[in-house]
Amino acid sequence: MKTKITPQELRSYRWFGSDTVRSFGHRSRAKQMGYARADYEGKPVIAIVNTWSDLTTCHSHFRERANEVKRGVWQAGGFPVEIPGMPVNEIFMKPSPMMYRNLLALETEELLRSQPIDGVVLMGGCDKTTPGLLMGAITMNLPAIYLPCGPMLRGNWNGQPLGSGSDVWKYWAEKCAGNINDEQWNAMEDGIARSAGHCMTMGTASTMTAIAETLGFTLPGASSIPAVDANHQRMATECGRRIVEMVWHDWTPRDFLTIESFENAIIADMAIGGSTNAIIHLVALAGRAGFKLPLTRFDELAQHTPMIANIRPSGQFLMEDFYYAGGLRALLNQIRSLLRLACLTVNGRTLGENICGAEVFNTEVIRSLENPVSAQGGTAVLYGNLAPNGAVIKPTATDKRFHQHQGRAVVFKDYNDLAARIDDDNLSVDENSVLVLQNAGPLGGPGMPEWGMLPIPKKLLKQGVRDMVRISDARMSGTSYGACVLHVSPESFIGGPLALVQDGDVIELDVPNRKLQLHVSDEELAQRRAAWVKPQRHYERGYGALFSERVTQADQGCDFDFLHAGAETPEPEIH
Ligand code: FES
Repeated sequence: MKTKITPQELRSYRWFGSDTVRSFGHRSRAKQMGYARADYEGKPVIAIVNTWSDLTTCHSHFRERANEVKRGVWQAGGFPVEIPGMPVNEIFMKPSPMMYRNLLALETEELLRSQPIDGVVLMGGCDKTTPGLLMGAITMNLPAIYLPCGPMLRGNWNGQPLGSGSDVWKYWAEKCAGNINDEQWNAMEDGIARSAGHCMTMGTASTMTAIAETLGFTLPGASSIPAVDANHQRMATECGRRIVEMVWHDWTPRDFLTIESFENAIIADMAIGGSTNAIIHLVALAGRAGFKLPLTRFDELAQHTPMIANIRPSGQFLMEDFYYAGGLRALLNQIRSLLRLACLTVNGRTLGENICGAEVFNTEVIRSLENPVSAQGGTAVLYGNLAPNGAVIKPTATDKRFHQHQGRAVVFKDYNDLAARIDDDNLSVDENSVLVLQNAGPLGGPGMPEWGMLPIPKKLLKQGVRDMVRISDARMSGTSYGACVLHVSPESFIGGPLALVQDGDVIELDVPNRKLQLHVSDEELAQRRAAWVKPQRHYERGYGALFSERVTQADQGCDFDFLHAGAETPEPEIH
């Protein structure tokens, strides 16, 4: 741990401590809010960046939790200030919340830079909030600790557990097939989201909070605590106490983030059967810290990491069960032989120290390395003439017979085309067809929406078909499942090979050999490329125009190119 700084070395001292007319203004305006000098003088100013809103359903407990963080900050001798952060939410934001991850990251960075902040507690959890907040915090590099919102309680329908997302897709297919009536469907609506907290399957939220903890950004065990458990309140207060100590020792993200901690995060992602979205977010996070994570490295680590979390959609249980079984600390302790245990974390201790002695209380939910759910990690990276820069698939959530498959393409040129034709009785499709969706990537979607789990045509659902090979440059929800090849890069909107696929083309998917091949001759592809017409971009003004100009492709993390690690941004002058 670094040596303790003095009150005069606090960043906020530049705003409050000097004898200038500007400092007079800052102090008198603090008094305007009812604070005396003794409330903040010589104390670390701690921002609590709170992504609460009335439309951010997963964070509905955050106003209460922010107060619990403040309690800890006051106790430890800090001065807490709550600052709203963009409440990126998965449920209501269109065309895709992914478009706004980078805006939250940019906002987090500038909120911290422009104001008298010494350290920050970041409050997030709903999918994009975790990477958005952490990307901004890594770039700003002030002492920062992450408080994940925690998973919601498990869903319940007629005594059966229901999992966020996963069971929606499953029972919607049954409804379309005529096996579930309206009354049953409405009863599920009442029971699937029973409390505050993020999706309680191993979706993107559970994956990214587990990754935040493995990277060292949370206190030990924080990511697994259900949102409405009293332990979550105590964790919030503990974050408030700890951030004050971190400020005094100037303990910043770049003091504990290393390439090894990012590789630990990939290993954890594979062991929990994490969301495919994690690959994009981890590449972006590493880019902020100045590290490159090629997709090939994900695949190498996946091949040596058994998946041991038995959580939906790749397994059986839910996050509440995972917590009672010991949570992430217990899981990481199971795979400790695969991890670099010397990596440091926000509490100043190593990952190895933080997971030491963590026990598994239910060996069905958290398996051992000797008895895994799957011998390999949850995500595989594919290459071939259809995806020269890579594509991903989640083999653990896929019907095994599709791991090696050849079929004829049924092509949809965009989402509207898909919606218009997928249930048409005249669509020429059978269970061996390969459904292809174009123009759903970072620029094409736009924002790479979670359309990658293309719906099975109704006429096939009625015949009992529940999985098919589907290929797109979209993402899919971490709660989704099926033989869905995602993140095809480069995307079709910019002329990637996916744009050239036509109805009837033969496509080969070979997961064991990591191959995705379009069986069309090079000559024919060259002719199609010459005839290809670049689509019009979606936005000419506003944030959409910035997004269209500067977002990178999926294999590079979809960050804005000008936000990657680079030259330091100067501190603001106080005058
Ligand atoms: Fe917030 Fe799923 S909707 S995590």
